[in-house]
Parts: sequence; C-alpha cells; structure tokens
Amino acid sequence: MRKQIAAANWKMNLTVDKAEALLNDILSAQINLSEDQLAVFAVPFPYLQMAQQKLNNTNNFFIAAQNCYSKKSGAITGEVSVEMLQSLGIKYVVLGHSERREFFEESNKFLAEKLNIALEYNITPVFCCGEPLSIRDAQTQNEFVAKQLEESLFHFSKDDIQKIVIAYEPIWAIGTGKTATSEQAQEMHAHLRKVLADNFGKDVADNISILYGGSVKASNAKEIFSQPDVDGGLVGGASLVADEFITIIKSLK
Ligand code: 13P
Repeated sequence: MRKQIAAANWKMNLTVDKAEALLNDILSAQINLSEDQLAVFAVPFPYLQMAQQKLNNTNNFFIAAQNCYSKKSGAITGEVSVEMLQSLGIKYVVLGHSERREFFEESNKFLAEKLNIALEYNITPVFCCGEPLSIRDAQTQNEFVAKQLEESLFHFSKDDIQKIVIAYEPIWAIGTGKTATSEQAQEMHAHLRKVLADNFGKDVADNISILYGGSVKASNAKEIFSQPDVDGGLVGGASLVADEFITIIKSLK
C-alpha cells in the first residue's frame, strides 16, 4: 500500500534556534501515525544534523535534504553529496523543486542523474513536477508534466520507480495563497498515475505516493488529502508554523 505523507519544505527559512523550537513544538504534540503515514521535514543543510538527532527515536518522522548533487564526491565547491547525506542517516531528498528548476536551471536530464545517485545511496527522492501559469492558461499542463516524468523517470525499472515519491506542485499555486481546487489536484494526480501506469503498469503506479504542493494549509489540507489519488502534501509556508503543520499531519488519510 502506498504511503500517505505530510512533507514540510522549510526552504531558506528559520535560524537554528527557531528551527529547533519548531521541531520541539511539533514533536511535543505526540502525533500518532499509522504504519502507512509519514511526516518528513526538508530542512536547510546546516540544520540536518540537529534535526536528524532530534528525530532519532521517533517512528514515522524523517528528515530530508532539499537538494543534492549528482556526483558522489569531488572538487565541486558548495555542493552537497548523497554520500554526505547517507553518512548523517538522512533517508529523503527533495529533487526538482520548481525553485531549483527556475533559479538554478536544473533540467529534467540533470534531475535524472540526481535521482539515479539518490537511489544508489538508498535515499528516497521526493521528485517535484508542475506547470507554470502560462501552461495552465493554455491548458497544456497534462502534456507538460508528462514530459517532466518521461525525461526524468522513465528510465527506471519497475522496482526502482516505486522507491520514488512524486510531488505535483503547480507553480501558480506556490506561495501565492492560490491553491488548486481539490478537483484540479485530483484530476492532475489521476493523470500522473495514468502516465505512470502506461509506462510501468497499473500495479506499480498504484504503489507510488503522489503528494500535492501549493498553498496547502491547516484549513484546506483535509479536503485536498481526501482525494483518491492525493497521498498527502508538500508544504512550504504553513510548515513553518507548528500548529498549522500539526493539523496538516493529522489531516493525512
Ligand atoms: P507553499 O506551501 O508556501 O505554497 O509552498 C509550496 C512548496 O513549494 C513546497 O515545496
């Protein structure tokens, strides 16, 4: 059965004291998750070790990096490798976020290389896809996201593709307060699952968690997560507020 996941993406926010206090507040809520429910915190690199140590004895709570490089090690100043993440016990990495695609020109092909090395090191990638507003306005979003999947994911085996979590994040809904409606989210998630089923088979597609991201908050999480093909969310702004994110975690189905 596929996992239901509430993933926080802190992006480039919080100082170390605030980050620690936020994790303390969320952990002290003692949220009980079932075996197929997870909470994941994608924290900035400097806080990985602190956050990882804090979550060490908690079931179903995991720390993620927000990025990694496509090579194991070497003379690449300023980058962080999967080998480093693995040495800290990190189990998840966010790849292909629209902000990395836009500000750092990360292509589908480059992301395929990062996905490869993450799996090689047993780190679960949360692979982000999603269309800009111009594509949504032209109603070509289905083709756009299918191409993102095709160019970054279709080379994987049936076994390996099931180790990847997908996050659909329409760019027009990120940080804008303008959420996709639950119908729009369900429509796209069903499309993504069909694209995966056509290439890898229905059984495989049914095992892949597909998260929704873009202005998810405490007040809309339950409605969005209740959609049959939505398996939780990737949350930016609302994940920085303990009470908001606690409610979002509790909204998992
Ligand atoms: P917001 O929840 O702030 O819209 O951000 C979504 C996002 O980009 C998560 O990765």
